[in-house]
Amino acid sequence: MSTILHIDSSVRDVTNPNPDHNSISKNIALQFINTWKNNRLKDEYIYRDVGVNPPDFITQDWISAVFTPEENRTPDQIKRLALSDELIAEVAAANIILISSPMYNYGMPAQLKAWFDQIVRINKTFDFDLSRGDFPLQPLLSGKTLIIATSSGEFGFEKGGIREDSGHLIPHLRTLSKYLGVDTMYEITSEYQEFGDERHRLSLANAKDRAESLASELSGSTRAPSSTNEVDNV
Ligand SMILES: Cc1cc2nc3c(=O)[nH]c(=O)nc-3n(C[C@H](O)[C@H](O)[C@H](O)COP(=O)(O)O)c2cc1C
Repeated sequence: MSTILHIDSSVRDVTNPNPDHNSISKNIALQFINTWKNNRLKDEYIYRDVGVNPPDFITQDWISAVFTPEENRTPDQIKRLALSDELIAEVAAANIILISSPMYNYGMPAQLKAWFDQIVRINKTFDFDLSRGDFPLQPLLSGKTLIIATSSGEFGFEKGGIREDSGHLIPHLRTLSKYLGVDTMYEITSEYQEFGDERHRLSLANAKDRAESLASELSGSTRAPSSTNEVDNV
């Protein structure tokens, strides 16, 4: 049995009275999850919609609590870290993590960044040792597979694309994935939403197909299959 953690982060809902307002990234992730659940009825499923229910932003008091040794924390500090503890426990329990994200202002939504800020925490998801030289941070979790499903209004954010220099969403997720304990990462992207043309329809159809086929492949085996969009050793 595996545990799959599903994080959505668009502020838009999956379905709306006007379907033009439906979140594309959430619908791609849903395609993945529906296929996964069909194949793996017994898996544990944890879901959070951080777009609609955002985690608190971290504060100075939060940082003080994090850097206070556990045995010395006050009841208030323990309470202040409760959400972070809960979110980290969900990540730690997961073998598979699915994150859907829109591109907002060329990066991830503040709500998803707030989720990461609660999770990337010293002595919980990474430790820090200056004897390691210029790379003192080391992730503490490992062995997880991450699937990201993204949607953007424009296009060409990939390596060599016409907006490569503005593409801060996927590179940022790749960097942060290490602190979730991710060894293998898959990327599903839909682009051109703002153009509303044939390129968008094709891009979205490809993303949904890819979500379905990837879920079938991965749910058939806990091992990562070979794939064109696979990024190993992220
Ligand atoms: C606040 C906001 C900022 C956006 N910024 C960008 C952007 O910087 N680049 C881009 O390509 N699209 C941008 N878009 C378009 C979204 O990425 C696009 O609508 C996407 O489909 C949203 O994801 P969703 O459908 O899952 O809600 C933005 C949309 C919104 C609402």
